[in-house]
Amino acid sequence: MTKILPVRGTHDLFGKNLFLYKHIEKIISKIANDYDFNEIITPIFEKSELFQKPLGQLSDVVLKEMYTFEDRNQSLITLRPEYTTPIIRAAITNNLLNNLPLKLFGMGPMFRRERPQRGRYRQFNQINFEILGSSDSFADTEIIVLASEFLKNINLNKKIKLYLNSLGDLDTLVEYKKKLSSYFDKYKNDLSDESKLKIHTNPLRILDSKDTADIKLNINAPKIENFYSVSAIKIFEDVKNLLSKSGIIFEIDKSLVRGLDYYCHTVFEFKNEDSVSQNTIIGGGRYDGLVKTLNGPNIPGVGWACGVERIIMMMKELKINPALAQLIIVEETSKEYGLNLLLKLRKMNFKVRYDYKYNLKKSLGQANEFKIKYAIIIGEKEKNNGFYTVKNLYEGNQIEVDFKELLTVLNS
Ligand code: HAM
Repeated sequence: MTKILPVRGTHDLFGKNLFLYKHIEKIISKIANDYDFNEIITPIFEKSELFQKPLGQLSDVVLKEMYTFEDRNQSLITLRPEYTTPIIRAAITNNLLNNLPLKLFGMGPMFRRERPQRGRYRQFNQINFEILGSSDSFADTEIIVLASEFLKNINLNKKIKLYLNSLGDLDTLVEYKKKLSSYFDKYKNDLSDESKLKIHTNPLRILDSKDTADIKLNINAPKIENFYSVSAIKIFEDVKNLLSKSGIIFEIDKSLVRGLDYYCHTVFEFKNEDSVSQNTIIGGGRYDGLVKTLNGPNIPGVGWACGVERIIMMMKELKINPALAQLIIVEETSKEYGLNLLLKLRKMNFKVRYDYKYNLKKSLGQANEFKIKYAIIIGEKEKNNGFYTVKNLYEGNQIEVDFKELLTVLNS
């Protein structure tokens, strides 16, 4: 019988990946609590119109990637491709916008029919943080500091770099897009086929094209900074200043425009410096017109989303706070001797793993997999003579020690 395979671009979460997913979830809950964000869980599918207008009638996500289908009553339903619009919809539906600012976060699956590859899936999980109702640069700063704090907590901060840009205010952006379209129109024969399609629909996206012909044309394309209004310059300066004061290191990237259509002012991306493709780990920015577009009040917003699978991929390459030692009791008859040691070590705050296996080979295999440094092995011989065998799993050598000597090894 042929096996039923999963849908292309989907994956099951189990074992180490699920362990890391749960670990990330715990850290997110803690940070959200510290920064005073409340969780929200919205349905996985929504009416299609929720996404069509705000994401940009002509953006890639809406044109090519949404899973949209007709329900039995002929209404159009879409599996959510992102979380910002559903969160705003839920805030409007449930009258949560009476007390501003509203700080919400959510974590869960999103769906985009992209071409699957490493780090790019058709069902993937996002963590999303949003501040609704403040245009203060403090909010932009706080949300970026939060992202940076999260990356620090999972030990990825050294591998990920923050890039920042400003798209100016909404009116400026409309003007700028017109200028860009007419510039690219002049050189349309030199543009890549993909960018040709975006000249009048989404010219901003041509600016972050990886195609060499496009990159050449981008050098002389009109620059957004020449269109900034006085207040847009001030907002951008404020954000940069507050970020620096908060100890956040960033680089300005003038080609950073983001893929969705609702952004203005601050936009940012945290990127994995060790990878060239699918390297954006967190992306976000300010979206001051979005709540109004969704028929809510005219209030600003700022936020970000992080791809959980991309984080998991990076975390798998790191040791995540492994136990210092694995206790291995070889026969059940040595259980009491082993338990006594385990209790003593735990009382002294050593992180020791124990797996109840009574199987040297299996336990050593697991200890290696979890990147644990020491195995403390207890068999009949150890029990009868009152000592322990301790093996350094990083270096491969092993010695027999009494309790005092064991402490010296563990503290070394
Ligand atoms: P986005 O850039 O479309 O922004 O997605 C944010 C993050 O989700 C990406 O940086 C990436 O880590 C992850 N991601 C996106 N597509 C995939 C995929 N196919 N497979 C795996 N991971 C993926 C947004 O979604 C905005 N809603 C972010 C935002 C929130 N802006 C303001 N608030």
